[in-house]
Amino acid sequence: MNKQWQTIIAVSELESKDVTQVEYSKLTLAVYDTVDGVFVSNARCPHAGANLCDGYFDGKNIECPLHQGLFDARTGVAKAAPATRSLKMYETRIHDGDVQIMF
Ligand code: FES
Repeated sequence: MNKQWQTIIAVSELESKDVTQVEYSKLTLAVYDTVDGVFVSNARCPHAGANLCDGYFDGKNIECPLHQGLFDARTGVAKAAPATRSLKMYETRIHDGDVQIMF
């Protein structure tokens, strides 16, 4: 099946300047309201599976709550050990007041 833009949450429902957990089609997603706009990743930390939505978010980076691995929430790039693998990011856009991902 071809990928299409899918609405996952309304912008008005996001935690402002924070990270919001969204369940969508068996996925647990982390939606980041960053200084550079809204970005979406898989919520599971690629190190050992902790839920990044419970981590510390500073508007740019998300720190894993379990071992304090650090990721850039805008690119998914791992920035501090023990995280070495990048987050799975989803292509994201804002459309008619909704957050959409290509899925
Ligand atoms: Fe996230 Fe270990 S589970 S850094």
